[in-house]
Amino acid sequence: MQGNERLQGIVDGLARALHDAVRELRITEDELWAGLRYLNEVGERGEFPLLSDVLGVSVLVDAITHGEEVGEGAGATTASNVEGPFYRPGAPVLERPYRLAAEGEPGERLRVSGRVTDDGTGEPVGAAELDAWQSSANGVYDNQDPSLGEFHLRGRMAVEPDGSYEFRTVVPPPYEIPKDGPVGALLRALGRHAFRPAHLHLKVRAPGYRPLTTMLYFADDPYLDSDAIGAVKDTLVVKLERDDGTDDGAARCRFDIALQPASR
Ligand code: DHB
Ligand code: FE
Repeated sequence: MQGNERLQGIVDGLARALHDAVRELRITEDELWAGLRYLNEVGERGEFPLLSDVLGVSVLVDAITHGEEVGEGAGATTASNVEGPFYRPGAPVLERPYRLAAEGEPGERLRVSGRVTDDGTGEPVGAAELDAWQSSANGVYDNQDPSLGEFHLRGRMAVEPDGSYEFRTVVPPPYEIPKDGPVGALLRALGRHAFRPAHLHLKVRAPGYRPLTTMLYFADDPYLDSDAIGAVKDTLVVKLERDDGTDDGAARCRFDIALQPASR
């Protein structure tokens, strides 16, 4: 009955934390009912994942899962980051040269490149596959606007045998999490904005390595320090290079990825 013991521990622990908060804050009956009505609304709108995000719980669970809370993940391994609500499995496998954004996609052009290596040996991981997704230049994902088409700005890409990769896309903008529902109302009531800094999502898979889910962010983004879900990690912030005249005018950034062997 291990499962039940775990559940019992979770319920006991949460009840203890709730009791402490209720006692400390002297929660009134009216406040209790307002809170319960609010949670009902969150459920009706399917916003519990979003609520977990803006309360910082998702980020904490990610940190615990990947050992960062106890300092294990502090080494050379590329830091993980939350998956967020907009991932879709089964994105198309792209052909080289890789283009996440089709020709004519609105937005500033961007070239992302880097190398996938083993976090211990530094050897290339030539069998790695990237699975990338992002919002369009007007700040929506295809799941939020079906008119964008299926798997818009999503794709899977095999890296080169030397672990390197390069793909073309457009620079994603800072992005506002859905704010027309109860979570948005909460942020407004707290005087918090709903922005996440601009980011690009990546999953990296390779045989023999732990799968990595992460994001990359861009230096100088105005929301790096006030992400609505508090997910930014310094090591995931890259510089956008522009205008050095050597190239086709696209912005460029480099993101190297170190994977952890599954055996560790
Ligand atoms: C969340 C994450 C995202 O990457 C995003 O674009 C929007 C919302 C989230 O975790 O709530
Ligand atoms: Fe996102």
